[in-house]
Amino acid sequence: MARITLAVTGSIAAYKAADLTSQLGKLGHAVTVLMTPAATQFITPLTLQSLSKNLVYTDVMTEENPSTIKHIDLAKQTDLFLVAPASAQTIAKLAHGFADNIVTAIALALPTTTPRLLAPAMNTNMYLNPATQTNLKQLQRYGFQLIPPREDLLACGDVGIGALADIHLILEKVSKTLHETN
Ligand SMILES: Cc1cc2nc3c(=O)[nH]c(=O)nc-3n(C[C@H](O)[C@H](O)[C@H](O)COP(=O)(O)O)c2cc1C
Repeated sequence: MARITLAVTGSIAAYKAADLTSQLGKLGHAVTVLMTPAATQFITPLTLQSLSKNLVYTDVMTEENPSTIKHIDLAKQTDLFLVAPASAQTIAKLAHGFADNIVTAIALALPTTTPRLLAPAMNTNMYLNPATQTNLKQLQRYGFQLIPPREDLLACGDVGIGALADIHLILEKVSKTLHETN
């Protein structure tokens, strides 16, 4: 059993975070979900709270527990950090050390040894844009392992690379990473 912090960002694939949260729980993991403000436009915190059986954090400036500093505390209590789906915007922010929301602030506060995975999901042109590709390379240098997107008919109507990796592949990568780090 691991403490997994799942960061959900503003992608049309955010609804798949419900299945991911549920499956991680069934595997016995304790899941804490973080959402960017944009992610809450795609799926409700209540859904992910019910499936994770845990508080869902959406705001870095709200301190639910006055005796702790949430983003520092949660970062320390994370055995594995998973961003899925990872939007182009959040990828750019993480590559440049932003800490302007609960997802980016906790990512920046993670101890250097904490394993971190990132599953991009976006339109093909957004994914192939040199800015996104450069940001992804930078994140790999910072220790993020990428779970590459797959080709599919995307929500925008384009066919191409950018669809979130299959949930079972994300789960496999989580298990493999936890196995390697323990
Ligand atoms: C209907 C819709 C679908 C979107 N899907 C994606 C997506 O799959 N991937 C992505 O990177 N951005 C997508 N966006 C744009 C992001 O939501 C937007 O860039 C947002 O600022 C991301 O913020 P965040 O990274 O803080 O969550 C979508 C926007 C809309 C309106």
